[in-house]
Amino acid sequence: MSTPGPVRLEGREKVTGTARYAAEHTPPGTAYAWPVPAAVPRGRVVAVDAGAALAEPGAVAVLTHENAPRLKDTDDGTLLVLQNDRVPHRGWYVALAVADTPEAARAMAAAVRVSYAPEEHDVVLTPGHPRLYVPETANAGVPGSRERGDFDGAYASAPVRVDATYTMRALHNHPMEPHATTARWEDGRLVAYDSCQGANAVQETLAGLFGVDKERITVVAEHVGGGFGCKGTPRPQVVLAAMAARHTGRPVRLALPRAQLAAVVGHRAPLVQRLRLGAGEDGAISALAHEVTTHTSTVREFVEQAAVPSRAMYVSPNSRTTHRVVALDVPSPSWMRAPGEAPGMYALECAMDELAYAAGVDPVELRVRNDTAAEPDSGKPYSSRHLVECLREGARRFGWDARDPRPRSRAEGRLLVGTGVASSYYPVYLMPSSAEAHVTETGRYRVRINATDIGTGARTVLAQIAADALGVALDRVAVEIGSTALPAAPLAGGSSGTGSWGWAVHKACRTLSGMVDARGGTVPPGGLTATADTEDDVPSDPPHAKAAFGAQFAEVTADTDTGEVRVRRLLGVFACGRILSPRTARSQFIGGMTMGVGMALLEGSTMDPRFGDFAERDLASYHVPTHADVRGIEAHWIDETDPLLNPMGSKGIGEIGIVGAAAAIANAVHHATGVRVRDLPILPEKVL
Ligand code: MOS
Repeated sequence: MSTPGPVRLEGREKVTGTARYAAEHTPPGTAYAWPVPAAVPRGRVVAVDAGAALAEPGAVAVLTHENAPRLKDTDDGTLLVLQNDRVPHRGWYVALAVADTPEAARAMAAAVRVSYAPEEHDVVLTPGHPRLYVPETANAGVPGSRERGDFDGAYASAPVRVDATYTMRALHNHPMEPHATTARWEDGRLVAYDSCQGANAVQETLAGLFGVDKERITVVAEHVGGGFGCKGTPRPQVVLAAMAARHTGRPVRLALPRAQLAAVVGHRAPLVQRLRLGAGEDGAISALAHEVTTHTSTVREFVEQAAVPSRAMYVSPNSRTTHRVVALDVPSPSWMRAPGEAPGMYALECAMDELAYAAGVDPVELRVRNDTAAEPDSGKPYSSRHLVECLREGARRFGWDARDPRPRSRAEGRLLVGTGVASSYYPVYLMPSSAEAHVTETGRYRVRINATDIGTGARTVLAQIAADALGVALDRVAVEIGSTALPAAPLAGGSSGTGSWGWAVHKACRTLSGMVDARGGTVPPGGLTATADTEDDVPSDPPHAKAAFGAQFAEVTADTDTGEVRVRRLLGVFACGRILSPRTARSQFIGGMTMGVGMALLEGSTMDPRFGDFAERDLASYHVPTHADVRGIEAHWIDETDPLLNPMGSKGIGEIGIVGAAAAIANAVHHATGVRVRDLPILPEKVL
């Protein structure tokens, strides 16, 4: 058993309240902003009457499409706020109130009178919607549609077939810290403290929108209270805060109220997923179709790439994987932890369970039989793939072999008990990064890189990587992250942060060590500095397929009186390359798995067809798991070092925990009750 590793370097600052988040910076003269969301689901703003708002005590300004600073065009339409009179969806911002205090700004926003010319709206995703189309690419640039071999022929002649459709409502991220920005302009320079997953991308975007050289913009994201994807791209708050600061000539803070998040910071779109699996009597897959239907907004095309795991997971000589999307008058969907893989693997792994029952093969064994050494879609061999080891190790730890596969075979009083399994999968993404390493004459080291810690422990793991590469004790290394004043780095997203940043840190530290060695081990009075950039190191088209794998096992109880499902045990075994920081890695795994419990049993955003907006606006109505909902959660990993990916031998771990958890739970619900609930979340009324 490895030691858990160091505690978070900034842990003390966080628990003592000295760590400062975006809304905790208060430059002298700060004014406060509060947005006004559109009150119709589609139409035009006819007039904005700010008279009453400006009469409020402490009023500073009301920004509307008529007086707000003009922005340059961008391909992300969600950021083009207050630029014209169009209302593309309910909740779209139509005005911004600015005042001397947050309370005054809120009162002003309530007093702004907006009149609209409403238009007919269409917010309901239906599988037969007339405006559905196949996008050229889905999120992450994957092809919208793929065909290999002859699916129709192979499926028609398969002795064992499964044809099942899985549906889920929209989902929202809801990080603990809602989106916030404190912005100020000084002599044509902009400084923005922004709660985001990557300050360099925010800086680039602001430079484009405001037509300012990016060297004149500093974006700081020193501490971030969660992101999960909804802070992965710049969001309206940073644009509005910068606009308001320019308009008023004062620093402006905009902390988005949680009740507004559902409409402006993205969601996982609702999905209809039809899975067809054709197999031999032994369960070997001969035909696989994964057809996804989803929505996007009229503002921005974002297509949840839910069919992608079916291109990578199992032997599938004849395959069809397609996405169809329709642009509705809804808020713009965006990234949510494991976009594509989380919902796609829910559907595929439930269909695998249905296939196991149809073929009479144990669900673990079925997955083992359909394992593949090469990625079916690309034909590339995996750099490493230990799915089978995860399944076997998970089965051993969980006690799977004792399972009676018959549904409704276990009862404890009025509780039915069942177990289920599912595979986990998440691709390895790596992006070029730069970093700097410095050593003082007295042998203290400092690493500087614009990495972002969204709660993952980025500082800590980067210090470990640096100490490792330098061959020195951890307490001699200081790490500075979270500002565009530091060497540029990619975002904390796609589970790519540690691999991408770590590679550059490793390279800078090795270069620095070489410089010290070349001087016979001495450091001059001013110290030595090494910089590194991995632009030429990270391959754009590597010869290997790259992914992390895992297996999750769930034990659930279903109450035969109430229909309530509870998760007794959730056990995951992951193969994610070298685990660099066991303590923080475990947190990532169980955090993802916990989010999977939410996806399976609790979470869901309801689109109100009449009002055209999501009904759940707070954590009292959007239910996420609490400690009492997550009993007996365990994350393990197998030793896997992958030398083909990066110098650390690591893979990403931030997202894989959510992938497979919901399917394992849904499969356990079927085993417990005999009911196939193919619609998430699994609410009591669906089980009874
Ligand atoms: Mo994650 S959805 O890639 O931030």
